[in-house]
Amino acid sequence: MTLNDMEQLYLKRQSCRAFSDREVDEELIKEICRIALLAPSACNAQPWQLIAVMGEKRAEVAKAVQPMGMNQFASDAKALIVVAEDKSGGIMKFGSIFKENTYIKNDLGILTAHLVLAAEAAGLGTCILGARDEKKLRELLGFKKERHIPHVIAVGYPKEGYELREKKRKPLDETFTLLKY
Ligand SMILES: Cc1cc2nc3c(=O)[nH]c(=O)nc-3n(C[C@H](O)[C@H](O)[C@H](O)COP(=O)(O)O)c2cc1C
Repeated sequence: MTLNDMEQLYLKRQSCRAFSDREVDEELIKEICRIALLAPSACNAQPWQLIAVMGEKRAEVAKAVQPMGMNQFASDAKALIVVAEDKSGGIMKFGSIFKENTYIKNDLGILTAHLVLAAEAAGLGTCILGARDEKKLRELLGFKKERHIPHVIAVGYPKEGYELREKKRKPLDETFTLLKY
């Protein structure tokens, strides 16, 4: 794989806000999640869990990511992947080193980036949904403890004819600095 291949993937990945009726294979969703979970995390703590909602509960999860009428397209996604914190793997072990500094949010973000790019490589469209009712999501998933759910990822095949948008990004000289000293 070349850098150019990577760039093409990054350019192709865009927030998909219109999904087709085409079904998505459960195994493909599982495979994308498996690959995404190769993502790095602080101290390799892997403080995460991905919950791919593909059955009846999907409608309720979709509602939980539609505050104030936002994200209506989420109802058409064939999978809603909930990105949740999971500290059961021994985060506390590192507590004394990091004190109150937690890297969990970084880790969940990095995992999400891996996931949306893996989905893109599989021909699927995704949209990260940060607008959400976190409490409702916890209830729906039966979480007993306060576990952070930073976002949900809507996944499905893009609607036929869904156009690739040009990337609007800040100019490089505003967001990149090369220090030569
Ligand atoms: C943490 C996060 C939360 C987001 N939440 C939403 C959301 O609730 N609804 C939505 O339509 N897009 C959401 N987005 C998508 C961004 O609007 C989108 O990534 C950005 O405008 C750049 O466009 P692109 O993804 O098409 O390149 C979110 C993106 C991120 C990273």
